[in-house]
Amino acid sequence: MRVTVSRHAHFNAAHRLYRKDWSDEQNDAVFGKCNNPNFHGHNYELVVSVTGEINPQTGYVMDMKDLKAIIADEVETPFDHKNLNLDVPEFYDLNPTAENIAVVIWNRIRRRIDSAMDVEVVLYETPRNFVTYRGN
Ligand code: NI
Repeated sequence: MRVTVSRHAHFNAAHRLYRKDWSDEQNDAVFGKCNNPNFHGHNYELVVSVTGEINPQTGYVMDMKDLKAIIADEVETPFDHKNLNLDVPEFYDLNPTAENIAVVIWNRIRRRIDSAMDVEVVLYETPRNFVTYRGN
């Protein structure tokens, strides 16, 4: 009996979408307003879900206090009110699209969760645009 538990979190962050190896024209053509050299911000909403067996002793899949602390350590503290391109090492050479941010968040959280559990990350960049990553 596998059950999914989820926690909702939030962070504000700035980014710029561009490739250093492309010309300004090429970056503008592909990334448009998101290529603004002075960056722009989003209110990101994050849902992290963990699926596993219910522990018969506690009745929990995992203690939500632990999941809350992992999200705070791995995402909220390093990302909130930060410039993703400049402040988060994973994005020094990786375009901080919602897709790539979701993968980076998943990798950070995955290594903190029991390997018997499945982890899913859903990241909203705007209320209408969101991406999902489950590994693989
Ligand atoms: Ni953007």
